[in-house]
Amino acid sequence: MAKDFYYFNNREVADHTHKETVTQNLFFTGGNRWKVLRQNLTALFSSAKLKNMFYLIENCAILLDKVIAEDLKSNKSNVIEIKSLLAKYTMDCIGSCAFGVETGTLVRTDTQKNPFTIMGEKIFDVSNFGALKMISRAMWPATFYGLGLKWFNDDIVTFFNKLLKGVFANRSHKQSPRNDFVDFILSWKQNNYLMGDSINNFKTGLKNTITLEVNDDLLVAQCVLFFAAGFETTATTTSFVFYELAKHPKAQARVIEEVSDYFDRHNGKIEYECINEMPYLQACVDETLRLYPVLGVLTREVAESYSLPTGLLLEKGDRIHIPVYHIHHNPYNFPEPDEFRPERTQDLHWYTF
Ligand code: HEM
Repeated sequence: MAKDFYYFNNREVADHTHKETVTQNLFFTGGNRWKVLRQNLTALFSSAKLKNMFYLIENCAILLDKVIAEDLKSNKSNVIEIKSLLAKYTMDCIGSCAFGVETGTLVRTDTQKNPFTIMGEKIFDVSNFGALKMISRAMWPATFYGLGLKWFNDDIVTFFNKLLKGVFANRSHKQSPRNDFVDFILSWKQNNYLMGDSINNFKTGLKNTITLEVNDDLLVAQCVLFFAAGFETTATTTSFVFYELAKHPKAQARVIEEVSDYFDRHNGKIEYECINEMPYLQACVDETLRLYPVLGVLTREVAESYSLPTGLLLEKGDRIHIPVYHIHHNPYNFPEPDEFRPERTQDLHWYTF
């Protein structure tokens, strides 16, 4: 798939992603739209940019520390519901790093639910109706959109549209020194279009260029993706890390020792490169991602007929499901796959299977 990427560049329901705002983002789309967006967003994830934003994450972490300390003081049972706390924390990080706003999710408001938390719940709608919409769209996309249905609630689009307009206005529609996600897409808006390579170049070897019109829908769609991808994935993974460490006291003690040593060496200050000095913690995160992959199945739609090395012919539009969870839990790749064993991720023999 990596070698012949052109044939597998489409995600599920590729022909219908233009039919609602949210699915016009990088995660759901394919073809030229994906290629141009991807090319224009890649620079946002350079090490230098991420390093520059690190202090924002540090500030959110300091606040998280305070919230935990206060919670433990007022909470006699000494129990904290970690998943929702971490979701608030990661939402705060993404709000700050991507949009330059303080979400306030970590600050307690008992009377009113935070609007970012509400959006998070709307995007990851776990109700029966949400599941029904997701499945019907995947199975009968033409009928689904023909009936005027949408996977994502309109409130999400309205909220992020307003958020973006507010941030643009705050920055007087000029790029700020933050150089963050909002600055990036502000520059897109000012140019009215994006340029990038055609997806066909992968096949033809040519260097054709494509132009993509920039409108509010396109901007809002990327905004929703960054918010959703940024908070839910990291909150789920870190809460599973805590869960596994709680069940494995020896691993927990080793992580605590490694983290304490790090702080001793760095006068109590955390730095961007910290993870390089904490290999065991990294191994715990990797092992958690193996046990609980955030996306257990990845889907692609074949862009053009393709013959697999076995001779099996895949037709245009055929859907491929990549069983990530199964690969991670196959004893051939990982002996005793259900065991949490951080040490195994340091031995990457399985990587070449
Ligand atoms: C533990 C954390 C994370 C995990 C496990 C994770 C996992 C994934 C996976 C498996 C995909 C590929 C989906 C596919 O091939 O169909 C993906 C795509 C993506 N993720 Fe994440 N992600 C994480 C954090 C983040 C964060 C923090 C951001 C941004 C702030 C982000 C932004 C994206 C974007 C933009 C894509 C689409 C890339 C593309 O289509 O080119 N992710 N993520």
